[in-house]
Amino acid sequence: MKKHHHKVAIITGGAQGIGGASARKLALYGATVIIADIDEEASKKNIKNIQSSGGNASFIKTDVSKSPDIKNMIDFTYEKFKRIDILVQNAFPVISGASRVYGDAVSVKEEEWDYGISVLAKAIYLGTKHVVPIMKQNDGGSIVNMASVHSILQEPGMLVYEAGKAAVVGMTRQMAIEYGPYGIRVNAIAPGHIVSEGLKAVWDKNPSGLKFFENQYPVRRTGIPDDIANGVSFLCSEEASFITGHTLAIDGGLTIQLQEQFGLRQARYIMDNPDTNVFGPSAEEK
Ligand SMILES: NC(=O)c1ccc[n+]([C@@H]2O[C@H](COP(=O)([O-])OP(=O)(O)OC[C@H]3O[C@@H](n4cnc5c(N)ncnc54)[C@H](O)[C@@H]3O)[C@@H](O)[C@H]2O)c1
Repeated sequence: MKKHHHKVAIITGGAQGIGGASARKLALYGATVIIADIDEEASKKNIKNIQSSGGNASFIKTDVSKSPDIKNMIDFTYEKFKRIDILVQNAFPVISGASRVYGDAVSVKEEEWDYGISVLAKAIYLGTKHVVPIMKQNDGGSIVNMASVHSILQEPGMLVYEAGKAAVVGMTRQMAIEYGPYGIRVNAIAPGHIVSEGLKAVWDKNPSGLKFFENQYPVRRTGIPDDIANGVSFLCSEEASFITGHTLAIDGGLTIQLQEQFGLRQARYIMDNPDTNVFGPSAEEK
């Protein structure tokens, strides 16, 4: 039997990128998938893709920066399927929305802070708030929150993103102890640089920059959405039934390197490859 057979799973930001691959993976293993996204066209495309492989998927238009939309996403799913087993809280506009939250404490505008924190952190509180009573009725469930290597490592100009992603790790741990007694596990994933459809379009214009970027990783490659989807599927499965409150780094070893050695390796790379165009997205948000 498929490992997510009979499960109902909501994926925010499930139209494309990491969420898109997670929706396809959970559907492949038998889950009924609900894609909750602001982008209707891309969601419908992903749903077609899932259905053409024999999967089951629906769409609910959702802007996770809006509280009523999150409640509606949960109510819609429960009314339609009478249960919710998995909630993957992943939505954030990495490509299109990046500039809205870029800056430090001095430069970032208050409305950008409010928007960023609403999508990155408040949405996770609200999704959990509305789904937990339903999961309790099912005798359990699994919540996976999308963190980042930026939850633990800092970069200039990333105040809002990094505050939000650090909050994801803290909330995940707090929620895990709170709802563990009800059979609800709450985990997070901290991806390294994942070349989504949107980021591929950026890198296609700068192949030498991508090679330099890949060299930063101990495994000498950047990630693909399926790397994260595999983690999502595992954390939501019975195989992970003793894992909760954990943030799983899926980053090809990026965050375990000694920084001095890493810096020297990249300097050597440029000496050996002087024509490298090092200007490209330096992190997932640009
Ligand atoms: N790509 C990376 O390198 C990377 C690395 C670490 C963490 N992450 C995290 O993974 C998650 C997904 O990233 P991605 O690269 O797949 O992004 P993406 O931009 O490729 O896809 C994001 C999806 O979320 C949707 N979305 C955006 N704003 C929304 C909103 N307000 N409400 C509902 N849906 C919304 C978009 O329409 C899109 O379908 C994000 O939380 C991101 O911070 C990404």
